[in-house]
Amino acid sequence: MQPGLWCGSVEEIHLKTFYIETFGCQMNAHDSEKVVGTLLREGYSQVVDEADAGLILYNTCSIRDKAEQKVFHRLNEYKRMQGEGKKFAVLGCVAQQEGNKIFERAPYVSLVAGSASYRNLPEMLARLEAGETRITGLDDRQTDETFDTEFTSRTNPHRGYITIIEGCDKFCSYCVVPYTRGKERSRTSASVLAEAQRIAQMGFTEIQLLGQNVNSYLDPSGKRSFAELLAAVGEVNGIKRVRFTTSHPRDFTKDIVDAIDAVPTLCDHVHLPVQSGSTDVLRAMQRDYTRDWYLERIAWTKAARRDISLTSDIIVGFPGETDRDFEDTITLLETVGYDAIYGFKYSPRPNTPAIHMHDSIPEDVKVARLAILNARQREIQRENYGRHLDQTVEVMVEHGANSRGQITGRSTQNKTVNFMCDSTPPSGSYIDVRITQVFPSSLVGEAISVPTVPSPALAAQQALNARVPVVH
Ligand code: 5AD
Ligand code: SF4
Repeated sequence: MQPGLWCGSVEEIHLKTFYIETFGCQMNAHDSEKVVGTLLREGYSQVVDEADAGLILYNTCSIRDKAEQKVFHRLNEYKRMQGEGKKFAVLGCVAQQEGNKIFERAPYVSLVAGSASYRNLPEMLARLEAGETRITGLDDRQTDETFDTEFTSRTNPHRGYITIIEGCDKFCSYCVVPYTRGKERSRTSASVLAEAQRIAQMGFTEIQLLGQNVNSYLDPSGKRSFAELLAAVGEVNGIKRVRFTTSHPRDFTKDIVDAIDAVPTLCDHVHLPVQSGSTDVLRAMQRDYTRDWYLERIAWTKAARRDISLTSDIIVGFPGETDRDFEDTITLLETVGYDAIYGFKYSPRPNTPAIHMHDSIPEDVKVARLAILNARQREIQRENYGRHLDQTVEVMVEHGANSRGQITGRSTQNKTVNFMCDSTPPSGSYIDVRITQVFPSSLVGEAISVPTVPSPALAAQQALNARVPVVH
């Protein structure tokens, strides 16, 4: 049977249809693209309504807050559907973290698998189809394997994701990832480049390299450093933009900035999470760098010939964070002048070293600090975005006209640009826009060039993505 297309008896349709729900980061979103590709390959069809699905998959995230409670709450909602002969699978970080406990609390779940075991999905699906229950894929940190598949279902219409490294060996004291995604393991640069070429042939012009720590990348074939791989992906025929996330300051080397300077297709954007501006808090977080070490990497980036936009993640209210420590974070925001930050209140996570520290900062103080952080950052962005006034920026078109008649796209710095245009440029095309107005988190302008025409292959791919096969 052709993947993704239905053909068979009513019973077979029901069993071989799936619905997937995804939470969390881009790694999870891309994992789901690979899981969907694998399911289609195994003869399943994707449906857009859970009521039509024989198999419901839930790809979970456990990075912050009360993630496990939210998962169990959602599973409770699935409970009412168990009488309909549906099967349920829990994937991702909460699956890895909670393991067999999920079967105890939600006995109607048949499959629990963490991301390190997805390469075994075909075998697990066969067991599921054979009627087995309580199937687990809970590889721990021992695995050396990555989940590479040619059968990725690329649902992001503009961006082709490539995982270059899985897992994390950093063990920051607040973070659950090393326990849920296993140890660091990189793909060979040859396999990454082959995937980049496939993506380019599909018509995508933008690639994003993914990893919990992309710059810890260690080519198993020893051929390329991360910066060299980045440059090589940027040189793949047809690729116009390359992004990468997330970088760890500890492994952020100057050759990454040099590569951005040298290869025009590498985007003017570095996401370099600092987490805190206080060296004392960084030590308690086991981040393995100081404020000054971080600022040195920022200085390299600012010294580049290109205007590289900087963004960050910040945690407020880590155990023991004093007013003075928090003030250090605020002054760091001012020193760096980020274009965007993602601020989070610290939340204790299972298995992490920080769970044994007293969660000493009261919730109202965390809330107040986060509000101060976001307000200060907004002022910084108001100032920063001003530099784009009257500039011409190249925009990749993402959405057609909104209610104000504006088209939306993104600049190389990943900034949202809303602009007026005489025609409606096709999604995925590139167009030059002159900036006429600036806001703290978006730019407004007018098109001043004719859009490039996206390749027919991209249009075909987008049409395929839009047509998620629905079986009623
Ligand atoms: N509490 C709050 N924020 C966290 N993050 C990771 N773990 C925690 C936690 N326990 C944030 C970090 C990380 C981002 C993805 O999530 O800032 O960079
Ligand atoms: Fe978590 Fe730290 Fe690894 Fe990032 S580097 S995934 S914050 S442990």
